Amino acid sequence: MKKLIVCCLVQLFFINSLFALKITVIGTGYVGLVTGACLALDHDVICCDIDCKKIDLLNKGIIPIYEPQLQELVTKLCTSCRKKTGSIKFTCDVAQSIQEADVLMVAVGTPTDDAGRADLSILRKAFETIAANLNGYKVIIIKSTVPIGTGDTMQKLIKAKSLVDFDLVSNPEFLREGSAVNDFLYPDRIVIGTSSKKAENVMREVYNTWIEEHVPFIVTDVVTSESIKYACNAFLASKISFINEFALLCDVCDADVNTVAYAMGLDKRIGPLFLKPGPGYGGSCFPKDTQALKTLAQDYACELRMVQATIDANNKQRKAVCHKIEKIMHRDLTGKTIAVLGLSFKPETDDVRYSCAIDTIEYLLEKKALVKAYDPIAMDNFQKIFPNITYCQSWMEAVSDADCLVLLTDWEEFKKIPLRMLGTIMKQTCIVDARNLWSPVKIAELGYTLENMGRKY
Ligand code: UGA
Repeated sequence: MKKLIVCCLVQLFFINSLFALKITVIGTGYVGLVTGACLALDHDVICCDIDCKKIDLLNKGIIPIYEPQLQELVTKLCTSCRKKTGSIKFTCDVAQSIQEADVLMVAVGTPTDDAGRADLSILRKAFETIAANLNGYKVIIIKSTVPIGTGDTMQKLIKAKSLVDFDLVSNPEFLREGSAVNDFLYPDRIVIGTSSKKAENVMREVYNTWIEEHVPFIVTDVVTSESIKYACNAFLASKISFINEFALLCDVCDADVNTVAYAMGLDKRIGPLFLKPGPGYGGSCFPKDTQALKTLAQDYACELRMVQATIDANNKQRKAVCHKIEKIMHRDLTGKTIAVLGLSFKPETDDVRYSCAIDTIEYLLEKKALVKAYDPIAMDNFQKIFPNITYCQSWMEAVSDADCLVLLTDWEEFKKIPLRMLGTIMKQTCIVDARNLWSPVKIAELGYTLENMGRKY
Protein backbone atom coordinates (compact mmCIF):
# COMPACT_ATOMS: atom_id res chain seq x y z
CA MET A 1 0.00 0.00 0.00
CA LYS A 2 2.77 2.41 1.03
CA LYS A 3 4.61 1.56 -2.21
CA LEU A 4 1.50 2.46 -4.13
CA ILE A 5 1.20 5.81 -2.34
CA VAL A 6 4.83 6.67 -3.12
CA CYS A 7 4.35 5.63 -6.78
CA CYS A 8 1.35 7.92 -7.08
CA LEU A 9 3.22 10.77 -5.40
CA VAL A 10 6.14 10.32 -7.78
CA GLN A 11 3.83 10.49 -10.80
CA LEU A 12 1.90 13.46 -9.43
CA PHE A 13 5.09 15.42 -8.84
CA PHE A 14 6.53 14.70 -12.27
CA ILE A 15 3.38 15.91 -13.98
CA ASN A 16 3.47 19.16 -12.04
CA SER A 17 7.18 19.79 -12.35
CA LEU A 18 8.35 22.63 -14.59
CA PHE A 19 11.91 23.43 -13.57
CA ALA A 20 14.84 21.22 -12.62
CA LEU A 21 17.45 22.89 -10.47
CA LYS A 22 20.76 21.44 -9.34
CA ILE A 23 20.40 21.20 -5.57
CA THR A 24 23.01 19.95 -3.14
CA VAL A 25 21.82 18.98 0.33
CA ILE A 26 24.63 18.96 2.91
CA GLY A 27 23.93 16.53 5.75
CA THR A 28 22.10 13.22 5.44
CA GLY A 29 20.25 13.08 8.75
CA TYR A 30 16.50 12.64 8.69
CA VAL A 31 15.89 16.26 7.61
CA GLY A 32 18.56 16.21 4.87
CA LEU A 33 17.57 12.82 3.50
CA VAL A 34 13.84 13.49 3.48
CA THR A 35 14.35 16.95 1.97
CA GLY A 36 16.74 15.61 -0.67
CA ALA A 37 14.50 12.69 -1.61
CA CYS A 38 11.35 14.80 -1.85
CA LEU A 39 13.02 17.59 -3.83
CA ALA A 40 14.48 14.97 -6.17
CA LEU A 41 10.95 14.41 -7.43
CA ASP A 42 11.38 17.73 -9.27
CA HIS A 43 15.08 18.54 -9.27
CA ASP A 44 18.55 17.02 -9.68
CA VAL A 45 19.65 16.50 -6.10
CA ILE A 46 23.00 15.54 -4.62
CA CYS A 47 22.87 14.45 -0.98
CA CYS A 48 26.34 14.74 0.53
CA ASP A 49 27.83 14.02 3.92
CA ILE A 50 31.32 13.88 5.43
CA ASP A 51 30.36 10.44 6.80
CA CYS A 52 31.46 8.18 3.92
CA LYS A 53 30.17 5.05 5.68
CA LYS A 54 26.66 6.49 5.64
CA ILE A 55 27.03 7.41 1.97
CA ASP A 56 28.24 3.88 1.15
CA LEU A 57 25.08 2.50 2.74
CA LEU A 58 22.90 4.95 0.82
CA ASN A 59 24.62 3.99 -2.43
CA LYS A 60 23.79 0.37 -1.66
CA GLY A 61 20.15 1.40 -1.28
CA ILE A 62 20.19 1.13 2.52
CA ILE A 63 18.57 4.03 4.39
CA PRO A 64 20.45 4.41 7.71
CA ILE A 65 17.37 5.62 9.62
CA TYR A 66 13.88 4.19 10.00
CA GLU A 67 11.52 6.71 8.42
CA PRO A 68 8.28 5.44 6.84
CA GLN A 69 8.04 5.85 3.02
CA LEU A 70 11.65 7.07 2.70
CA GLN A 71 13.10 3.74 1.55
CA GLU A 72 10.39 3.33 -1.10
CA LEU A 73 10.82 6.91 -2.31
CA VAL A 74 14.61 6.66 -2.64
CA THR A 75 14.41 3.26 -4.36
CA LYS A 76 11.86 4.63 -6.81
CA LEU A 77 14.04 7.68 -7.52
CA CYS A 78 17.18 5.61 -7.99
CA THR A 79 15.59 3.11 -10.35
CA SER A 80 13.05 4.70 -12.63
CA CYS A 81 13.23 8.43 -12.30
CA ARG A 82 16.67 9.40 -13.55
CA LYS A 83 15.42 9.45 -17.12
CA LYS A 84 12.66 11.85 -16.15
CA THR A 85 12.76 15.21 -14.40
CA GLY A 86 14.43 14.63 -11.06
CA SER A 87 17.33 12.55 -9.82
CA ILE A 88 19.16 11.76 -6.60
CA LYS A 89 22.83 10.97 -6.02
CA PHE A 90 24.77 10.29 -2.80
CA THR A 91 28.40 11.24 -2.26
CA CYS A 92 30.91 12.15 0.42
CA ASP A 93 32.72 14.54 -1.93
CA VAL A 94 31.25 17.67 -0.32
CA ALA A 95 33.52 20.12 -2.18
CA GLN A 96 32.57 18.75 -5.61
CA SER A 97 28.87 18.65 -4.65
CA ILE A 98 29.00 22.33 -3.69
CA GLN A 99 30.67 23.29 -6.94
CA GLU A 100 28.11 21.40 -9.06
CA ALA A 101 25.00 23.01 -7.52
CA ASP A 102 22.92 26.16 -8.13
CA VAL A 103 21.27 25.80 -4.73
CA LEU A 104 22.84 24.57 -1.49
CA MET A 105 20.74 23.35 1.42
CA VAL A 106 22.49 22.96 4.73
CA ALA A 107 20.78 20.36 6.91
CA VAL A 108 23.42 19.44 9.47
CA GLY A 109 22.88 18.82 13.18
CA THR A 110 22.77 21.62 15.76
CA PRO A 111 22.82 19.74 19.09
CA THR A 112 22.66 21.44 22.50
CA ASP A 113 26.02 22.33 24.08
CA ASP A 114 26.81 22.13 27.80
CA ALA A 115 25.51 25.69 28.36
CA GLY A 116 22.12 24.90 26.80
CA ARG A 117 22.92 26.76 23.58
CA ALA A 118 22.75 25.29 20.10
CA ASP A 119 26.19 23.98 19.17
CA LEU A 120 26.91 25.48 15.76
CA SER A 121 30.34 23.92 15.20
CA ILE A 122 29.11 21.45 12.55
CA LEU A 123 27.15 24.19 10.78
CA ARG A 124 30.15 26.52 10.86
CA LYS A 125 32.37 23.79 9.32
CA ALA A 126 29.79 23.27 6.55
CA PHE A 127 29.80 27.01 5.81
CA GLU A 128 33.61 27.11 5.78
CA THR A 129 33.57 24.31 3.20
CA ILE A 130 30.98 26.24 1.18
CA ALA A 131 33.09 29.42 1.32
CA ALA A 132 36.14 27.50 0.13
CA ASN A 133 34.24 26.03 -2.82
CA LEU A 134 32.02 28.85 -4.05
CA ASN A 135 32.61 28.93 -7.80
CA GLY A 136 29.70 31.12 -8.94
CA TYR A 137 26.43 32.62 -7.67
CA LYS A 138 24.49 30.22 -5.44
CA VAL A 139 21.55 30.40 -3.11
CA ILE A 140 22.61 29.00 0.26
CA ILE A 141 19.72 27.76 2.37
CA ILE A 142 19.84 27.02 6.09
CA LYS A 143 17.46 24.12 6.78
CA SER A 144 18.97 23.21 10.15
CA THR A 145 17.22 24.67 13.19
CA VAL A 146 19.48 27.52 14.23
CA PRO A 147 19.37 30.29 16.83
CA ILE A 148 17.87 33.56 15.67
CA GLY A 149 20.68 35.59 14.10
CA THR A 150 22.67 32.61 12.78
CA GLY A 151 21.86 33.42 9.14
CA ASP A 152 23.51 36.79 9.54
CA THR A 153 26.58 35.24 11.21
CA MET A 154 26.96 32.64 8.43
CA GLN A 155 26.56 35.31 5.76
CA LYS A 156 29.43 37.27 7.34
CA LEU A 157 31.52 34.10 7.61
CA ILE A 158 31.28 33.48 3.86
CA LYS A 159 31.82 37.14 2.95
CA ALA A 160 35.01 37.15 5.04
CA LYS A 161 36.39 34.19 3.12
CA SER A 162 35.06 34.52 -0.42
CA LEU A 163 34.43 37.26 -2.96
CA VAL A 164 31.94 35.19 -4.96
CA ASP A 165 28.34 36.43 -5.04
CA PHE A 166 25.72 34.45 -3.10
CA ASP A 167 22.44 34.90 -1.23
CA LEU A 168 21.53 33.41 2.11
CA VAL A 169 18.06 32.04 2.77
CA SER A 170 16.44 30.65 5.91
CA ASN A 171 13.96 27.87 5.10
CA PRO A 172 13.01 26.06 8.32
CA GLU A 173 11.61 22.55 8.25
CA PHE A 174 8.44 21.45 10.03
CA LEU A 175 8.89 17.69 9.60
CA ARG A 176 7.88 15.23 12.28
CA GLU A 177 9.99 12.09 12.53
CA GLY A 178 7.82 9.14 11.61
CA SER A 179 5.78 11.14 9.09
CA ALA A 180 8.49 13.33 7.59
CA VAL A 181 7.95 12.34 3.93
CA ASN A 182 4.25 13.07 4.15
CA ASP A 183 4.92 16.32 6.04
CA PHE A 184 7.35 17.44 3.32
CA LEU A 185 5.03 16.59 0.45
CA TYR A 186 1.94 18.04 2.11
CA PRO A 187 3.14 20.97 4.26
CA ASP A 188 0.86 23.45 6.02
CA ARG A 189 3.11 26.25 4.78
CA ILE A 190 6.56 26.97 3.38
CA VAL A 191 8.59 29.69 5.09
CA ILE A 192 11.33 31.58 3.28
CA GLY A 193 13.54 34.19 4.93
CA THR A 194 15.65 36.33 2.62
CA SER A 195 16.40 39.95 1.80
CA SER A 196 17.12 39.15 -1.87
CA LYS A 197 14.47 39.17 -4.60
CA LYS A 198 16.77 37.03 -6.77
CA ALA A 199 17.00 34.37 -4.06
CA GLU A 200 13.24 34.54 -3.47
CA ASN A 201 12.66 33.76 -7.15
CA VAL A 202 15.04 30.79 -6.97
CA MET A 203 13.10 29.53 -3.91
CA ARG A 204 9.89 29.85 -5.92
CA GLU A 205 11.49 27.52 -8.50
CA VAL A 206 12.61 25.09 -5.80
CA TYR A 207 9.05 24.88 -4.46
CA ASN A 208 7.20 25.44 -7.73
CA THR A 209 5.12 22.26 -7.39
CA TRP A 210 3.92 23.26 -3.93
CA ILE A 211 3.18 26.85 -4.99
CA GLU A 212 1.08 25.51 -7.87
CA GLU A 213 -0.82 23.45 -5.32
CA HIS A 214 -1.56 26.65 -3.36
CA VAL A 215 0.50 25.78 -0.29
CA PRO A 216 0.89 29.09 1.64
CA PHE A 217 4.32 30.48 0.76
CA ILE A 218 5.51 32.98 3.35
CA VAL A 219 8.37 35.25 2.39
CA THR A 220 9.94 37.29 5.15
CA ASP A 221 13.37 38.36 6.37
CA VAL A 222 15.94 35.89 7.71
CA VAL A 223 15.55 36.60 11.45
CA THR A 224 11.76 36.43 11.29
CA SER A 225 11.97 33.09 9.48
CA GLU A 226 14.40 31.77 12.10
CA SER A 227 12.02 33.01 14.82
CA ILE A 228 9.01 31.24 13.23
CA LYS A 229 10.71 27.87 13.63
CA TYR A 230 11.41 28.39 17.34
CA ALA A 231 7.96 29.87 17.98
CA CYS A 232 6.28 26.81 16.41
CA ASN A 233 8.30 24.24 18.33
CA ALA A 234 8.01 26.12 21.64
CA PHE A 235 4.26 26.55 21.18
CA LEU A 236 3.71 22.86 20.33
CA ALA A 237 5.87 21.83 23.30
CA SER A 238 3.86 24.14 25.57
CA LYS A 239 0.60 22.58 24.33
CA ILE A 240 1.94 19.14 25.33
CA SER A 241 3.19 20.41 28.70
CA PHE A 242 -0.18 22.02 29.34
CA ILE A 243 -2.14 18.82 28.79
CA ASN A 244 0.46 16.80 30.70
CA GLU A 245 0.09 19.04 33.76
CA PHE A 246 -3.65 18.88 33.37
CA ALA A 247 -3.46 15.08 33.27
CA LEU A 248 -1.74 15.12 36.66
CA LEU A 249 -4.53 17.36 37.97
CA CYS A 250 -7.15 14.98 36.53
CA ASP A 251 -5.39 12.15 38.37
CA VAL A 252 -5.89 13.78 41.74
CA CYS A 253 -9.38 15.15 40.96
CA ASP A 254 -10.60 11.85 39.47
CA ALA A 255 -11.47 13.58 36.17
CA ASP A 256 -10.84 12.13 32.69
CA VAL A 257 -8.11 13.99 30.78
CA ASN A 258 -8.98 12.35 27.44
CA THR A 259 -12.47 13.82 27.56
CA VAL A 260 -11.04 17.17 28.66
CA ALA A 261 -8.60 17.15 25.71
CA TYR A 262 -11.31 16.08 23.26
CA ALA A 263 -13.67 18.85 24.35
CA MET A 264 -10.86 21.41 24.32
CA GLY A 265 -9.80 20.34 20.83
CA LEU A 266 -13.27 20.92 19.41
CA ASP A 267 -12.81 24.62 20.14
CA LYS A 268 -11.45 25.88 16.81
CA ARG A 269 -9.25 28.38 18.63
CA ILE A 270 -7.48 25.49 20.38
CA GLY A 271 -7.55 22.57 17.89
CA PRO A 272 -7.26 18.86 18.70
CA LEU A 273 -3.59 18.13 17.91
CA PHE A 274 -0.73 17.93 20.42
CA LEU A 275 -3.12 17.50 23.32
CA LYS A 276 -2.22 13.88 24.00
CA PRO A 277 -0.92 13.37 27.52
CA GLY A 278 2.18 11.22 27.81
CA PRO A 279 5.46 10.77 29.63
CA GLY A 280 6.75 14.19 28.53
CA TYR A 281 7.98 15.22 25.11
CA GLY A 282 11.27 13.81 23.86
CA GLY A 283 13.15 13.55 20.58
CA SER A 284 15.84 15.63 19.00
CA CYS A 285 13.76 18.80 18.62
CA PHE A 286 11.45 20.00 21.42
CA PRO A 287 13.85 19.42 24.36
CA LYS A 288 16.77 20.97 22.46
CA ASP A 289 14.85 23.83 20.86
CA THR A 290 13.00 24.97 24.00
CA GLN A 291 16.31 24.99 25.88
CA ALA A 292 18.12 26.85 23.09
CA LEU A 293 15.30 29.40 22.79
CA LYS A 294 15.29 30.06 26.53
CA THR A 295 19.08 30.56 26.56
CA LEU A 296 19.00 32.73 23.46
CA ALA A 297 16.32 34.98 24.97
CA GLN A 298 18.37 35.27 28.17
CA ASP A 299 21.32 36.43 26.08
CA TYR A 300 19.05 39.29 24.93
CA ALA A 301 18.02 39.91 28.58
CA CYS A 302 14.52 38.79 27.63
CA GLU A 303 12.81 36.28 29.89
CA LEU A 304 10.51 33.73 28.22
CA ARG A 305 8.50 32.51 31.20
CA MET A 306 6.14 30.36 29.16
CA VAL A 307 9.08 28.50 27.65
CA GLN A 308 10.67 28.04 31.07
CA ALA A 309 7.36 26.72 32.45
CA THR A 310 7.07 24.33 29.48
CA ILE A 311 10.54 22.94 30.18
CA ASP A 312 9.85 22.65 33.93
CA ALA A 313 6.52 20.88 33.36
CA ASN A 314 8.21 18.45 30.98
CA ASN A 315 10.93 17.60 33.50
CA LYS A 316 8.22 17.07 36.10
CA GLN A 317 6.25 14.82 33.73
CA ARG A 318 9.22 12.57 33.08
CA LYS A 319 9.65 12.14 36.84
CA ALA A 320 5.90 11.52 37.21
CA VAL A 321 6.26 8.25 35.27
CA CYS A 322 8.90 7.07 37.77
CA HIS A 323 6.68 8.10 40.70
CA LYS A 324 3.82 6.10 39.23
CA ILE A 325 6.03 3.00 38.94
CA GLU A 326 7.18 3.52 42.52
CA LYS A 327 3.58 3.91 43.69
CA ILE A 328 2.25 0.83 41.92
CA MET A 329 5.17 -1.27 43.24
CA HIS A 330 4.66 0.04 46.81
CA ARG A 331 8.13 1.68 46.76
CA ASP A 332 9.81 -1.70 46.55
CA LEU A 333 11.63 -2.12 43.27
CA THR A 334 14.70 -4.05 44.41
CA GLY A 335 14.92 -7.29 42.44
CA LYS A 336 11.55 -6.69 40.77
CA THR A 337 11.24 -7.45 37.05
CA ILE A 338 9.94 -4.50 35.09
CA ALA A 339 8.91 -4.93 31.44
CA VAL A 340 9.40 -1.71 29.49
CA LEU A 341 7.49 -1.58 26.21
CA GLY A 342 8.62 1.17 23.83
CA LEU A 343 12.08 2.75 23.73
CA SER A 344 11.86 5.26 20.87
CA PHE A 345 10.72 8.80 21.77
CA LYS A 346 7.53 8.21 19.78
CA PRO A 347 6.14 5.53 17.42
CA GLU A 348 7.28 5.03 13.78
CA THR A 349 10.88 6.02 14.45
CA ASP A 350 14.04 4.31 15.70
CA ASP A 351 15.23 7.58 17.26
CA VAL A 352 15.86 7.33 21.00
CA ARG A 353 17.28 10.82 21.57
CA TYR A 354 15.79 12.32 24.75
CA SER A 355 13.37 9.41 24.88
CA CYS A 356 11.63 9.20 28.25
CA ALA A 357 12.69 5.53 28.26
CA ILE A 358 16.21 6.77 29.06
CA ASP A 359 15.12 8.57 32.26
CA THR A 360 12.78 5.78 33.26
CA ILE A 361 15.29 2.97 32.80
CA GLU A 362 18.03 4.97 34.55
CA TYR A 363 15.67 5.32 37.51
CA LEU A 364 14.73 1.63 37.49
CA LEU A 365 18.37 0.56 37.47
CA GLU A 366 19.15 2.99 40.28
CA LYS A 367 16.38 1.31 42.29
CA LYS A 368 17.95 -2.09 41.51
CA ALA A 369 15.07 -3.37 39.41
CA LEU A 370 15.63 -5.88 36.59
CA VAL A 371 14.65 -4.37 33.25
CA LYS A 372 13.33 -6.38 30.31
CA ALA A 373 12.81 -4.10 27.32
CA TYR A 374 11.15 -4.43 23.94
CA ASP A 375 10.67 -2.03 21.03
CA PRO A 376 9.70 -2.98 17.46
CA ILE A 377 12.46 -0.85 15.86
CA ALA A 378 14.60 1.10 18.33
CA MET A 379 16.41 -1.63 20.32
CA ASP A 380 19.70 -1.37 18.36
CA ASN A 381 19.93 2.36 19.06
CA PHE A 382 18.93 1.93 22.69
CA GLN A 383 21.50 -0.80 23.21
CA LYS A 384 24.23 1.79 22.55
CA ILE A 385 23.06 3.68 25.67
CA PHE A 386 22.06 0.74 27.88
CA PRO A 387 24.07 -2.33 26.81
CA ASN A 388 23.34 -4.28 29.99
CA ILE A 389 19.57 -4.55 30.27
CA THR A 390 17.69 -7.52 28.85
CA TYR A 391 16.36 -6.96 25.32
CA CYS A 392 13.47 -9.17 24.25
CA GLN A 393 12.31 -10.27 20.83
CA SER A 394 8.62 -9.60 21.49
CA TRP A 395 6.33 -7.81 23.92
CA MET A 396 5.23 -11.22 25.17
CA GLU A 397 8.77 -12.25 26.05
CA ALA A 398 9.24 -8.92 27.88
CA VAL A 399 6.13 -9.16 30.03
CA SER A 400 6.50 -12.89 30.84
CA ASP A 401 7.07 -13.24 34.58
CA ALA A 402 7.27 -9.46 35.03
CA ASP A 403 6.06 -7.75 38.18
CA CYS A 404 5.13 -4.59 36.31
CA LEU A 405 4.57 -3.53 32.70
CA VAL A 406 5.53 0.04 31.84
CA LEU A 407 4.26 1.24 28.46
CA LEU A 408 6.27 4.23 27.20
CA THR A 409 5.71 4.41 23.42
CA ASP A 410 2.32 3.95 21.78
CA TRP A 411 3.37 1.72 18.90
CA GLU A 412 0.43 0.28 16.92
CA GLU A 413 1.61 -3.22 17.92
CA PHE A 414 0.99 -2.45 21.60
CA LYS A 415 -2.58 -1.33 20.95
CA LYS A 416 -3.32 -4.89 19.86
CA ILE A 417 -1.96 -6.63 22.98
CA PRO A 418 -4.70 -8.98 24.27
CA LEU A 419 -4.92 -7.58 27.79
CA ARG A 420 -6.59 -10.74 29.09
CA MET A 421 -3.41 -12.68 28.33
CA LEU A 422 -1.32 -10.48 30.65
CA GLY A 423 -2.97 -12.08 33.68
CA THR A 424 -1.72 -15.50 32.61
CA ILE A 425 1.88 -14.57 31.81
CA MET A 426 2.85 -11.80 34.27
CA LYS A 427 3.91 -12.50 37.84
CA GLN A 428 1.87 -9.52 39.08
CA THR A 429 -0.47 -7.58 36.83
CA CYS A 430 0.69 -4.05 37.66
CA ILE A 431 0.53 -1.73 34.66
CA VAL A 432 1.86 1.79 34.18
CA ASP A 433 0.37 3.12 30.95
CA ALA A 434 2.28 6.34 30.27
CA ARG A 435 0.48 6.90 26.94
CA ASN A 436 -3.13 6.31 28.06
CA LEU A 437 -3.28 3.53 25.47
CA TRP A 438 -5.53 1.10 27.27
CA SER A 439 -9.01 1.55 28.71
CA PRO A 440 -8.85 1.75 32.52
CA VAL A 441 -12.39 0.35 32.61
CA LYS A 442 -11.32 -2.83 30.78
CA ILE A 443 -8.22 -3.15 32.95
CA ALA A 444 -10.30 -2.79 36.12
CA GLU A 445 -12.69 -5.50 34.85
CA LEU A 446 -9.71 -7.82 34.50
CA GLY A 447 -8.72 -7.07 38.08
CA TYR A 448 -5.32 -5.58 37.20
CA THR A 449 -3.70 -2.63 39.00
CA LEU A 450 -3.22 0.42 36.79
CA GLU A 451 -1.54 3.82 36.82
CA ASN A 452 -1.98 6.05 33.78
CA MET A 453 -1.80 9.75 32.87
CA GLY A 454 -5.18 11.04 34.07
CA ARG A 455 -7.35 8.75 31.94
CA LYS A 456 -10.48 7.59 33.74
CA TYR A 457 -12.55 5.96 30.96
C1 UGA B 1 8.76 18.16 16.08
C2 UGA B 1 7.69 19.04 15.41
O1 UGA B 1 6.41 18.42 15.53
C3 UGA B 1 8.02 19.26 13.93
O2 UGA B 1 7.07 20.16 13.36
C4 UGA B 1 9.42 19.86 13.81
O3 UGA B 1 9.78 20.05 12.47
C5 UGA B 1 10.41 18.92 14.46
O4 UGA B 1 10.05 18.74 15.85
C6 UGA B 1 11.78 19.55 14.33
O5 UGA B 1 11.99 20.64 14.88
O6 UGA B 1 12.61 19.03 13.58
P1 UGA B 1 9.22 15.51 16.22
O7 UGA B 1 10.13 15.86 17.34
O8 UGA B 1 9.73 14.64 15.14
O9 UGA B 1 8.69 16.87 15.48
O10 UGA B 1 7.94 14.77 16.82
P2 UGA B 1 6.54 15.22 17.42
O11 UGA B 1 5.50 14.42 16.77
O12 UGA B 1 6.37 16.67 17.44
O13 UGA B 1 6.67 14.67 18.94
C7 UGA B 1 7.60 15.24 19.85
C8 UGA B 1 7.37 14.66 21.24
O14 UGA B 1 6.13 15.10 21.78
C9 UGA B 1 7.31 13.13 21.28
O15 UGA B 1 7.97 12.68 22.43
C10 UGA B 1 5.82 12.83 21.37
O16 UGA B 1 5.52 11.60 21.98
C11 UGA B 1 5.35 14.00 22.21
N1 UGA B 1 3.92 14.33 22.03
C12 UGA B 1 3.46 14.80 20.84
C13 UGA B 1 3.05 14.17 23.10
O17 UGA B 1 3.44 13.74 24.22
N2 UGA B 1 1.75 14.51 22.94
C14 UGA B 1 1.27 14.99 21.76
O18 UGA B 1 0.03 15.29 21.68
C15 UGA B 1 2.14 15.14 20.69
